[in-house]
Amino acid sequence: MPVPGPGYSITVRLEAPPSASAAGDLASAIGKLGGVITAFDVVESHTDRIVVDITCNALSEGHARDITDELERLPGVAVRKVSDRTFLIHLGGKIEIRSKVALKNRDDLSRAYTPGVARICQAIAENPDDARRLTIKRNTVAVVTDGSAVLGLGNLGPAAALPVMEGKAALFKKFADVDAWPVCLDTQDTEEIIRTVQLLAPVYGGINLEDIAAPRCFEIEARLREMLDIPVFHDDQHGTAIVVTAAMRNALRVVGKSMADCRIVVCGVGAAGSAIIRLLLQRGPGEVIAVDVHGIVHRDRPAMDDNMAWVAANTNRAGMTGTLHDALVGADVFIGVSAPNLFGAEQVATMAPRAVVFALANPDPEIDPLEAQRYAAVVATGRSDYPNQINNVLAFPGVFRGLLDAQARTVTDDMLLAAADAIADVVDDERLNASFIVPSVFDSAVAPAVAECVRKAAGPHHATTI
Ligand SMILES: NC(=O)c1ccc[n+]([C@@H]2O[C@H](COP(=O)([O-])OP(=O)(O)OC[C@H]3O[C@@H](n4cnc5c(N)ncnc54)[C@H](O)[C@@H]3O)[C@@H](O)[C@H]2O)c1
Repeated sequence: MPVPGPGYSITVRLEAPPSASAAGDLASAIGKLGGVITAFDVVESHTDRIVVDITCNALSEGHARDITDELERLPGVAVRKVSDRTFLIHLGGKIEIRSKVALKNRDDLSRAYTPGVARICQAIAENPDDARRLTIKRNTVAVVTDGSAVLGLGNLGPAAALPVMEGKAALFKKFADVDAWPVCLDTQDTEEIIRTVQLLAPVYGGINLEDIAAPRCFEIEARLREMLDIPVFHDDQHGTAIVVTAAMRNALRVVGKSMADCRIVVCGVGAAGSAIIRLLLQRGPGEVIAVDVHGIVHRDRPAMDDNMAWVAANTNRAGMTGTLHDALVGADVFIGVSAPNLFGAEQVATMAPRAVVFALANPDPEIDPLEAQRYAAVVATGRSDYPNQINNVLAFPGVFRGLLDAQARTVTDDMLLAAADAIADVVDDERLNASFIVPSVFDSAVAPAVAECVRKAAGPHHATTI
């Protein structure tokens, strides 16, 4: 059952009679419709009326409208204005650039800009590695998208993707002090995307690919990794794979099973699923069975692209065929990054005892988590309104902090696994339980721990100082 959340939060400014019962009447009108009041401010008081700002969470835009209409129907109440708080925080965008140097006088100008800057340009021309020492490159990441797979919304294009990329940049700054900048490209042509990123790479210390649809995302990442001397990381793939691997490790600690004995079903072999399978295979699982919209992936399936052929060749040793439901029988772990409502409690009952279910399709998981809990020992989702939220924010800020600090030129599986272990290890034995297998995204220990492990995995740090 969805609950009203801050994603649909409105502030209603209204006039009401100055009676003792006004606040109660307003609150019960909202409560009757299932809205959740989070703030109530009387902003003006007159002998004949009060003006009130009521902030409440709703389920949807329609629900918010119903709440407003209900308030308007109360005797003596007049709604003046309704503000959607989510839209309000996006007005004018969410990030900005600030100068780190004071530009107070001619002397400052002469050093920060011409003529002084010319000597810095010459130094970099003579020694290109100095770009990391003397420019923003050392701390700056491009968040690159073509807008083809925006959240769960699909192909919305580059302009509509910008609010997500701005949000990502804000998270980079907040959690790891990384200066990230949105780069939303007005093309969905693989060659054009690759060439454009290659052309803009000199400014950046890393490339975070974001919301680019599969299978195009695989080729774009692989080719950019080959041609660039900075790390290229598709977060929808590897960020997810890192957090899932961390959560898996801790879920298996809870149920007392070892990876080598586990049969793992991964449903969804797109961007997220493929990367999860590749990373989990590094951990030596007993068996991985991949399932997509056509059923269980096996070697004899016709017309597979390169990614699917790799998955088929490296999973399902027994050559099993059939449906997701067939795959679940006897499985120890289910990881879903696919589509909503694919199975119910009766299928979880066919899994091995003390089963682990990660139902990560957003916003609606593969199985209702409450249904899954009837038979599974550990349940995780991608949602913030259930325990065990698998959230990429646990990984990408620390990963890039570590990569930038190490001046890394590539990203390796060892770094991804080190990041996963760092996240898992933040949950110590005392706090670990079935409802707490991953730390909170606001746990300030996470990003530094991830950064340190990635830095170590990247090898010795070659940074020079001025
Ligand atoms: N942290 C998280 O919680 C997290 C992270 C990444 C992705 N996701 C979610 O995972 C889902 C997939 O993301 P993606 O970027 O990999 O998408 P994608 O489009 O690249 O891949 C989707 C995959 O799901 C499969 N699929 C679709 N319908 C299916 C069905 N009925 N039965 C079995 N398989 C089916 C497709 O065949 C495909 O392999 C989305 O809902 C996304 O929101 C969650």
